[in-house]
Amino acid sequence: MAYSRITGVGHYVPENIITNEYLTTLMDTSDAWITERTGIKERRYFTKGKDTNASMATEASKIALARANLSATAIDFIIYATITPDYFFPGPGFILQRNLGIAGIGVLDIRDQCSGFVYALSVADQFIRSGMYRNILVVGAEIQSTFLNHTTEGRGVAVIFGDGAGAAVVQATEDENHRILSTHLHADGTYAEELYVKEPGSSGGERFYEQLLENPQMGDVVMNGNAVFKHAVVRFPEVIKEALAHNQLQSSDIDLLVPHQANLRIAEYVRQQLGLTPAQVMTNIQYYGNTTAASIPIAMSEAWEQGRINAGDLVCLAAFGSGFTWGSALLRW
Ligand code: UT7
Repeated sequence: MAYSRITGVGHYVPENIITNEYLTTLMDTSDAWITERTGIKERRYFTKGKDTNASMATEASKIALARANLSATAIDFIIYATITPDYFFPGPGFILQRNLGIAGIGVLDIRDQCSGFVYALSVADQFIRSGMYRNILVVGAEIQSTFLNHTTEGRGVAVIFGDGAGAAVVQATEDENHRILSTHLHADGTYAEELYVKEPGSSGGERFYEQLLENPQMGDVVMNGNAVFKHAVVRFPEVIKEALAHNQLQSSDIDLLVPHQANLRIAEYVRQQLGLTPAQVMTNIQYYGNTTAASIPIAMSEAWEQGRINAGDLVCLAAFGSGFTWGSALLRW
C-alpha cells in the first residue's frame, strides 16, 4: 500500500515590507486597531517587474525540491492553489511548470481560497495512494495586494491580506510511520457571498470590459468579517477534532498545529478550545498578514526552518475561508 509523505517544504515572500504605520498614510486606520483586531504588524507586497504569482511559486518550489533532495524532472504532477492567478486563464501552474522546465506533466490549478492548500494536499495524497503518481509538487501562492482598495472605504479588508508563496514536495512512501494520515474537506456554499470578489465574473452577462466601465470597483474583495470570524471559530476546532477522532488521537498528541493564518484572535481561540499550549500552534500572521492559499505552506516551511517540525511529529494543518470552505490534514512527519 502506497502512502504519501511531505519530503520538502519551501517558501518565498517578497522583500517589500508594508508596515501598519505605512497603511495609516493611505487610509484612516491605526497600528493599534490592526494589531488588536488581527495581530498583524506587517505584510509583504510583491515588487512590480520582479515578482509574479508564478515566479514566487517557482522560488518556493525550488527550495522545497532542494530540501526533498529531488530534481524538478522527477516531479510527475503539479497541483497549484491560488485565487490571484497571473492571468485570468490559464492558471499559474502552467507557468510554474514552464519555469521549472518540466513540460509534459499534468498540471491542476485549483481555487478553494484559504483552504486551497489543504484541498491541494488532499488531492495529491489521493493521487499517490491510488498509484497514479509518485512525486507531486503542491503549491499555494497569492498576489493579493493588487486586489486591495487602499482607501478608508476598503480598510476592513486591505489591512489583512499580503503576498507570498509556499510549496511542498509530496512523495510516495511505504513507511507507515511517516506519512499523511488523513485529510478532511468541507464546504458550505450558502455563504459564498460573505467573502468574495464578484467581478470580473460571467454571471452578470456583460463582457468584462463593460463590467469595468460600469463598475470602477471591479475586483474589490467584499467581506463580511464578522460572519467569517463566527464561522471560523466553530469550523476550525470541528475539523481538527474530526481529524483527531478519525485517527484515534487526542489534541494533546499534536506536536504542532499549523492553522491558516487568518487572524491571531481566531488562532488563539482555537488554541484554547483544543487545550493547546502556544508552543503547539504556529503563528506568523504578525509578519505576513493573511496570504490565503499560501499561508499554510509558508507557516509550515518557517516552522520547519525554526526546528519546530521534526521527524515523527504529529502535525495538523487546518484551514477555513471563503466558500465557505474548511479542511484539515493530519501528518506524521
Ligand atoms: O481567511 C479568511 C479571511 N478572513 C477572515 O478571517 C476575517 C475574519 N474576520 C476578522 O478577522 C474580523 O472580523 C476583522 C479583523 C475583519 C474585523 O474585526 P471586527 O472586530 O469584526 O471589526 P468590525 O468589522 O466589526 O468593525 C469594527 C469597527 C467599525 O467601526 P464602527 O462601525 O464600530 O464605528 C469599522 O468601521 O472598526 C472599523 N474598522 C477599522 N478601523 C480602523 C474596520 N476596519 C478598520 C481598520 N482600521 N482597518
